[in-house]
Amino acid sequence: MKEFNKKLAVFASGSGSNFEAIAQACVDGRIPAKIVLLVCDNANAYAIERAKKFDIPTLVLHPRDCGGKPAYEQRIVDKLNELGVDLVCLAGYMRIVGETLYNAYAGRILNIHPALLPSFKGAHGIDDAFNFGVKVFGVTVHFIDLTIDGGVIVMQRAFEYYGNDRDEVETRIHAIEHELYPEAIKKCIIHNA
Ligand code: GRF
Repeated sequence: MKEFNKKLAVFASGSGSNFEAIAQACVDGRIPAKIVLLVCDNANAYAIERAKKFDIPTLVLHPRDCGGKPAYEQRIVDKLNELGVDLVCLAGYMRIVGETLYNAYAGRILNIHPALLPSFKGAHGIDDAFNFGVKVFGVTVHFIDLTIDGGVIVMQRAFEYYGNDRDEVETRIHAIEHELYPEAIKKCIIHNA
């Protein structure tokens, strides 16, 4: 029988609703894995409160406390290695991954983006798509590369929207994210087992 008890680390900078969706999916058995670490670069992030609820250890670290980005990422990599992390899931992590982290975990770092890549890359995917006037919105889960929102796509989910309510679009995108990210993680785990 195949062993699916993979170890995940989730990286978040803010609210952490995707982190919580993944944590809940692990608890429910929808993902055959366990989150062993939340990595957070913002001491005020609500994601940290969510981690407490699930009893998930948190590493709170900022590049300025480490003497720069390479040293910051090396501290994170050391922790990931110590815990034996199999897969890194970026979930609202508002930093570009640098070579130190990328090279240590290449092909094992997922990200979620609130638009249908390759359209609307960057930090404002929802607003950019809405302001452009698209009628098909969606969410992408992809492996990262060293470019912004680049890398191999794992899953996408789309919906049509003809209304004029930007907040409604955001609500629907988040609802899709919370289903799609756990599904994509499961797909990656099973595919690589
Ligand atoms: C999500 O929309 C995700 O697609 C983007 O950042 C947002 C994070 O939201 N990368 P949350 O912190 O998971 O609530």
